[in-house]
Amino acid sequence: MANIVSPSILSADFANLERDIKSAEKYGADWIHVDVMDGHFVPNITIGVPVVKSIKRITALPLDVHLMIEKPDFYAQPFIDAGADILTFHYEALDNDNQIQQLINKIKSGSVKAGISIKPKTKPEVLLPFLNSVDMVLIMTVEPGFGGQKFMSECAEKIKFIKDNSPKNLIIQVDGGIDNNTAKICTSLGANSLVAGSYIYKSDNIQNAIASLK
Ligand code: DX5
Ligand code: ZN
Repeated sequence: MANIVSPSILSADFANLERDIKSAEKYGADWIHVDVMDGHFVPNITIGVPVVKSIKRITALPLDVHLMIEKPDFYAQPFIDAGADILTFHYEALDNDNQIQQLINKIKSGSVKAGISIKPKTKPEVLLPFLNSVDMVLIMTVEPGFGGQKFMSECAEKIKFIKDNSPKNLIIQVDGGIDNNTAKICTSLGANSLVAGSYIYKSDNIQNAIASLK
């Protein structure tokens, strides 16, 4: 099956968000990746609930919302209500496995898919208790916070561990420094969903860039 390509609008033109989302849609994007940052969990502030709500009105594509925030359990419901279709939070943002499991259950109680993500320094073993209940694991291949950073190949090794220990239908997503070359490294290890921001939105030809990730 082809990879799920999820362009990150962090690298789009925020003054022309509708245009840039529609062009990704026209040229074969599968999801739209929305990076939510709070200035606490990561040293950057980006998009919040009202923007997600507005984007929902202008695209038919599923919204793949990546929460890089503290207290994801407090903010999950507003993002679900705003129209998130896939809601991913960070393992590091909660205190214990019990809170994590409760949040997964809460996200999945509607028709939203639940994703859990780990930062570069977090070992993939910590996700073992959750691999049968999440819909997606997001392996960060850069330190979360900014677009346009260099792919960390040592993080890609984690993909295989997750793949070998998870049910067949688990979606394995990578995010950070993904281009046509780094995508191949990740898919060969088992990733099947690719987030790309600068590679898609800073390219001269969005159509070719998306096609090269499929
Ligand atoms: C980084 C974000 C990414 C970012 C990726 O913290 O989670 O989604 O937009 O940007 P590129 O593809 O440029 O590395
Ligand atoms: Zn992201």
